[in-house]
Amino acid sequence: MAPPRVLVIPGDGIGPEITRATMHVLERVMDRYGVELEMRYAEAGDTAAEKYGEPLPRETLALAKNWADVVLKGPVGETAGIVVVGLRRELGVYANIRPARSLPGVASVAPIDLVIVRENLEDVYAGIEFSVPGAAFAVKVVTEAETRRVARIAARYARARSGRVTIVHKANVLRVADGLFRSVARKVLEEEGVEVDEMYVDAAAMEMVRNPTRFDVVLTMNQYGDILSDLAAQVAGGIGLAPSANLGDEKALFEPVHGAAWDIAGKGIANPTAMILSAAMMLRHLGYQEAALAVERAVEQALEEGYSTPDLGGSLTTMEYAKAVTEFLG
Ligand code: IPM
Ligand code: MN
Repeated sequence: MAPPRVLVIPGDGIGPEITRATMHVLERVMDRYGVELEMRYAEAGDTAAEKYGEPLPRETLALAKNWADVVLKGPVGETAGIVVVGLRRELGVYANIRPARSLPGVASVAPIDLVIVRENLEDVYAGIEFSVPGAAFAVKVVTEAETRRVARIAARYARARSGRVTIVHKANVLRVADGLFRSVARKVLEEEGVEVDEMYVDAAAMEMVRNPTRFDVVLTMNQYGDILSDLAAQVAGGIGLAPSANLGDEKALFEPVHGAAWDIAGKGIANPTAMILSAAMMLRHLGYQEAALAVERAVEQALEEGYSTPDLGGSLTTMEYAKAVTEFLG
């Protein structure tokens, strides 16, 4: 079997640094765990926009769509709205999986271990905005078909965990749009045999800080998932630790939840954990279970033994930290 094809997009700001750190870890994984990957690099983001006049160059998009099995992407700057939303749409990656978990040696606001399953293509991110003099509109799109397929993904994650899904919405106000999401999601989840409960998004934000272990799998709409996943990441110890997987039926895109962090770019102090853990999610998706677990364990061990970058109170550089993680891979 030909090795899986991985398109690596380092992105902007701290992107290239954390990508290098992640590749350092991946190389050891490939060496020690019999992982085979065919990798190619491509550009996207603010820097690409300056160079080529478009943030998501046609060549990058073509490689992602026609060559790659999966994409491993770093953060993108001001053009993220175009690049990230564009890639998700073009690749049809409809479910955004965002785990938030307390890690050893990292101060968390409260113990937390949940997975947000965020619908990834619709809602106000569908790109239907317009204005008339004196007013502007953004259309919130919800379809049954999309809600159904993302709910099935949430059910799959729930079965592998506690068997429980919380649907998060605001159907008391958005009766039509959120009402449809809520009712379709509930029906699918019940059919799938998982335990379901519901919460309004405002209450969910509060509960996620007050009592995060109350949640296991959270199924929610695009914008709520965007906001709640930053919140959950911070509860778990910081956005520098939060990975994500964008899953479709054919393609998948893995990326840190955080942004380009231009303020610390080029200093070699960025925390590469979110991207390293995104690469672990990629390995698992590609069927390399043992390697994925090994990366996660290595990160945990490194953190537990006090190896960390300045954002977590440590003094290691990005690469020193990556090397420590790599050492724990054996
Ligand atoms: C994220 C990001 C993106 C989003 C932006 C950059 C478009 O914030 O991945 O959460 O809103 O989805
Ligand atoms: Mn976000």
